[in-house]
Amino acid sequence: MQLLDGVLVSAHIKEQIKQEVIDWQAKGGKKPHLAAILVGNNPASEAYVGSKVKHCEELGFDSTLLRFGSEISEHELISEVERMNNDDSVDGILVQLPLPAHISGDSVINAISPAKDVDGFHPISIGKMVLGQPTFLPATPYGIMLMLEYYKINTSGMNCVVIGRSNIVGTPMTLLMSRNTVPGNATVTMCHSKTKNMKEFCLNADIIIAAIGKPRFVTADMVKPGCIIIDVGINRIDDPTKKSGSRLVGDVDFDNVAPLCSYITPVPKGVGLMTLCGLMKNTLLAAKQKAGVAVE
Ligand code: GUN
Repeated sequence: MQLLDGVLVSAHIKEQIKQEVIDWQAKGGKKPHLAAILVGNNPASEAYVGSKVKHCEELGFDSTLLRFGSEISEHELISEVERMNNDDSVDGILVQLPLPAHISGDSVINAISPAKDVDGFHPISIGKMVLGQPTFLPATPYGIMLMLEYYKINTSGMNCVVIGRSNIVGTPMTLLMSRNTVPGNATVTMCHSKTKNMKEFCLNADIIIAAIGKPRFVTADMVKPGCIIIDVGINRIDDPTKKSGSRLVGDVDFDNVAPLCSYITPVPKGVGLMTLCGLMKNTLLAAKQKAGVAVE
């Protein structure tokens, strides 16, 4: 079993991005600038946005964090997004999800200018992705593709099971793995909470991408020997042996599944770090495109 090491791969990609920013500035380009919008005080969202802002600093990007109380109206939030759309110093905009129940996430995402949609959640970005046109890919699936590419894992012809159908991970992941790309070219089955025979599908899989948000959902009896496991889950569970009283686990029962696998991502230090790489690469791309540079 080989660990797919998010620390190693993300460090490598971050070095590349850092260098690209230096080269870009040497040619007269300006620092990429990410604007992050955080509503309310969900501790997980605070942690994610905090680490996005920290990565901006580390990579030589500018960042702006806009924080609003959970009482902000949908109308006010959309006005803030529009302000960022019209701010020429801003290259990329992300609105951290989930939003409070009284705000339509769709309406807010639809308000983001597609040119600044570095999360790749806007219908135009998703539509272009489906059609295979160049666009911002959603950060987590993009990060997973970068990780498979780094380890030169050729998924062509593999049976891939994606567990989860969210707009953020499961749906775009299913699409990306089935495209005629490297990595990609897999035969993909999207499973979800209503799937019957989940175990059968999983036992037939050469690669399982678990993004269902249920702690240790994928157990050893569901995994074929030699399977590749990508664990997207970040779930906090009680653990009285820890000082904090809790710890993070993925959607996969790592301790029992890992010995069966050819490759597996750990949680933490796996996919989460790759998501940040995807976001940062998108933001740099947005900055270059805004400056009129033709980019692949
Ligand atoms: N919430 C969970 N994952 C994400 C993500 O990748 N981007 C945003 N904006 N919110 C999220």
